Amino acid sequence: MRIDIMTLFCDMCDTVLGESIIGRARAAGKVEINTIDIRDYTEDKHRRVDDKPYGGGMGMVMQAEPIYRCYNALCEKLDTKPHLIYMTPQGKTLTQKRVTELAKLDSIAILCGHYEGVDERVIEELQPEEISIGDYVLTGGELPALILADSISRMLPGVLANNECFEEESHFNSLLEYPQYTHPSEWRGREVPEVLLSGHHENVNKWRREQSLKRTLDRRPDMLKNAELTKNDKSFLSENE
Ligand code: ADE
Repeated sequence: MRIDIMTLFCDMCDTVLGESIIGRARAAGKVEINTIDIRDYTEDKHRRVDDKPYGGGMGMVMQAEPIYRCYNALCEKLDTKPHLIYMTPQGKTLTQKRVTELAKLDSIAILCGHYEGVDERVIEELQPEEISIGDYVLTGGELPALILADSISRMLPGVLANNECFEEESHFNSLLEYPQYTHPSEWRGREVPEVLLSGHHENVNKWRREQSLKRTLDRRPDMLKNAELTKNDKSFLSENE
């Protein structure tokens, strides 16, 4: 999988993407992530890529042409059209389901907006998938793009230690994850639940499943309608409702 991030702030993205699990995955060739400076595609002699909005109003708008040329140059270089995503608070809210689908693609290009947005005509022309990371507004699309790139990358083979890492975690099965504990077994008077010290795998699994169900019921009951529930799960939930 290859991800290209089109941005005015390459350094900001490169810094984050060079660290930790994603940094190691890139170094090991499990995922290729590049940043592209949209400014390299302006013909303005001062390298400007934004201008005042027609009709007046606050802030600046990113111009259509540099973005268009940036994406086209990428298509030419790759000899294919990567799936284009535009990060915007007006997009569809990102879900684990969409992340899992996107992780199956060969090539993705992510456009980061800045200032007051981008000229609508380049959106009409390129027809990107518009994705929001939540109902709040950030100063630009870089942090959202990094969130998207991180969430996709960790789904790729070999990036995490093994598939169990994400099969059990929050949102993967439309359930929140059970609570986790590590050493010491007693911390400031708080004990690790007895069952986790027992070494009895079946009981541990049962306890974890019930904790997952209970947490989801308490915190995110809306998620349960999409969860695959067994007979036992359903009776546990009805006893705890
Ligand atoms: N750009 C600014 N805010 C955003 C958000 N919530 N999601 C995606 N892109 C954004």
